[in-house]
Amino acid sequence: MGRVSGLTEVPTFRRRGRATLGQADALSRLWPALGVAVDGAPLDLPALFGRHRPVALEVGFGMGEATVAFAAARPDVDVLAVEVHPPGLGSLLRLVEEHGLGNVRVADGDARVVLRSMLQPASLEEVRVFFPDPWPKRRHWKRRLVGAAFADLVADRLRPGGRLHVATDWRPYAEQVRLLLGGHPAYAVLDEVPWRPFTRFEQRGIAAGRPAVDLVAVRQH
Ligand SMILES: C[S@@+](CC[C@H](N)C(=O)[O-])C[C@H]1O[C@@H](n2cnc3c(N)ncnc32)[C@H](O)[C@@H]1O
Repeated sequence: MGRVSGLTEVPTFRRRGRATLGQADALSRLWPALGVAVDGAPLDLPALFGRHRPVALEVGFGMGEATVAFAAARPDVDVLAVEVHPPGLGSLLRLVEEHGLGNVRVADGDARVVLRSMLQPASLEEVRVFFPDPWPKRRHWKRRLVGAAFADLVADRLRPGGRLHVATDWRPYAEQVRLLLGGHPAYAVLDEVPWRPFTRFEQRGIAAGRPAVDLVAVRQH
């Protein structure tokens, strides 16, 4: 596995948790075939997936249940899934094996490094950010992933017509993203939200009385 790079930036995540034995086993067995080191080196997406298909980048997939549900429902799309949390990496690899999916690759590091240094302009069909850490305290707002720099970077890496899909159960964060994308010249915000799988984190929000807000913006020509 690669070393997490990009930590000179304000971190958007907390380091936590150790992989279980099952997750560690999946990591050691499946990483050589399905893992992508976040080392800043440019990625050749057709070589990585062994075919030319639209690619969706999923940022912060948690334990990977929604990633697998999406990849199984859309075998015509390849999914590059990025997470910093080691138990999540092992969990997703195990689920990919269980479901026999050939369209998922897993990267272990900061998605901002993947976007900035490893992907070409206009190379992505979609960027999916489901329930990014909300960082509710004011002094932590600078840690929120989806800000102006992220929106600019994603706009450049999406093909024209490609989509940025953000879901959050934290209303003030949703408002921030709505204003950001609504006022951004590269995006048009959609009224209709396309299907996405239910996520583990979403379940917790609903239990706490916080339903999800989805924001979807299309990269303009
Ligand atoms: C609140 S969890 C949501 C997980 C999952 N998407 C879900 O809905 O269940 C946010 C996840 O984003 C990951 N994350 C935060 N910043 C990240 C970054 N810069 N690159 C990759 N993953 C990141 C965290 O490690 C965490 O697992």
